[in-house]
Amino acid sequence: MSALKQPTIRVVAIIAEGVPESDTKQMIAYAKSNNKVVIGPATVGGIQAGAFKIGDTAGTIDNIIQCKLYRPGSVGFVTKSGGMSNELHNTIACATDGIYEGIAIGGDVFPGSTLSDHVLRFNNIPQVKMIVVLGEHGGRDEYSLVEALKQGKINKPVVAWVKSQVQLGHAGAMNGGEMESVQAKNQALKDAGVVVPTSYEALEGAIKETFQKLVEEGKITPVKEVPPPQLPEDLSTAIKKGKVRVPTHIISTISDERGMSVEQRYAGVLMSTLVEEGYGVGDVVLAIARICIMMCADHGPCASGAHNSIVAASAGKDLISSLVSGLLTIGPRFGGAIDDAARYFKDAYDRGLAPSEFMEDMKKKGIRVPGIGHRVKRGDKRVELLQRYARENFPSVEYVEYAVQVETYTLSKANNLILNIDGVIASLFLDLLNGTGMFTKQEIDDIVEIGYLNGLFVLARSTGLIGHTSDQKRLKQPLYCHPWEDVLYTK
Ligand SMILES: *[C@@H]1O[C@H](CO)[C@@H](O)[C@H](O)[C@H]1NC(C)=O
Repeated sequence: MSALKQPTIRVVAIIAEGVPESDTKQMIAYAKSNNKVVIGPATVGGIQAGAFKIGDTAGTIDNIIQCKLYRPGSVGFVTKSGGMSNELHNTIACATDGIYEGIAIGGDVFPGSTLSDHVLRFNNIPQVKMIVVLGEHGGRDEYSLVEALKQGKINKPVVAWVKSQVQLGHAGAMNGGEMESVQAKNQALKDAGVVVPTSYEALEGAIKETFQKLVEEGKITPVKEVPPPQLPEDLSTAIKKGKVRVPTHIISTISDERGMSVEQRYAGVLMSTLVEEGYGVGDVVLAIARICIMMCADHGPCASGAHNSIVAASAGKDLISSLVSGLLTIGPRFGGAIDDAARYFKDAYDRGLAPSEFMEDMKKKGIRVPGIGHRVKRGDKRVELLQRYARENFPSVEYVEYAVQVETYTLSKANNLILNIDGVIASLFLDLLNGTGMFTKQEIDDIVEIGYLNGLFVLARSTGLIGHTSDQKRLKQPLYCHPWEDVLYTK
């Protein structure tokens, strides 16, 4: 009743059995005066083929496909008995181009909507070309259909049969009496112009004949067969069968922690293997990366990153915040020159520019060459060590040598224009990427482009920044930097 009173709900189907008749009568009265429809109580529901079904009507998807209920046909069908509706779905599918809509009104004495209500409704649906009715002995519902026919309210062909043997003892089938006998009902329907076969077994033939007559008369163009829509398989079942993969949100080529009990792997090697067999950090990180990390770990407290971390720590910030405030300064003036140096050196060397041409070109563009120049003058120990490592271990050192030639040229201009640590790491990694033969030209360009090499500096400098942060926190001294260099150095 609450559902019926909702302004947006027009049809209510009641599957429940045993609804008190007085309640049903109230609902019927309300529905009638408000232009709404009640299907049931005690109905299995209904189906609009290819569109919608109520409850368990028509059963499994296999049955729906078998009975062609996945697309609309030309037949409107109404029955009292839900138990018989599946049977008739199948019969109609065999005899015609299929059902447009099928309704089971339910077996109660006072159905919310009657056989004739639905027949009249079907009569107004243009897609419905003929109507099939399956009645039941007992009740008087079929007589209201006879009335409607006699009054000429129905102009579409109706095929009907009133069945005597009821599978389930419907309340509506229990009233006796001559008028309500099966023969009387079938006779009355026949007299009113309905196609009534001689037996239930002849029903299919009668439906088929009626349908074909309409086709011949041009009143029905049988609907075109369409392939049933493929229903997607249940995901969990399909995954179990190994038929599908769910899309990956994150792709990692370096480490792996799939599954609950699976141990992490680095490049396919179990983490425990690395620990048990005594491998060090250097085996996890590439040897050359390890050296770079060692060499870039710190630069003393004056460098931008260290300075920021110390200031943040002295302001009472936690370790992570202090570390991050230092890392945020990494960029073109602090550490972050590695990628830019790699870009410019690579571009110049690949284009075959002589060191002098390269430098003049940059000068013309007004770009300071990243990787060249430092406050300290010649003889940065780290630069020497890295170059020696490359010469001893790399298959080719073309970029390193080019960087050295560039340095020779710049030193002839000013004695502080040395190849700095950023410049040497940049050229070293260019040689490494090319020398391993594991990367295509495009991949090398991508690696340089994405800022990967600055990552080395981030990794290395984090160690130093954590050191400075903890040191400052241990000292517990507020920092007054006037001038900051003096304060920092004495600390
Ligand atoms: C890249 O490596 C190959 C093989 O080691 C070498 O022949 C080639 O000269 C290298 N190119 C550059 C630009 O370093």
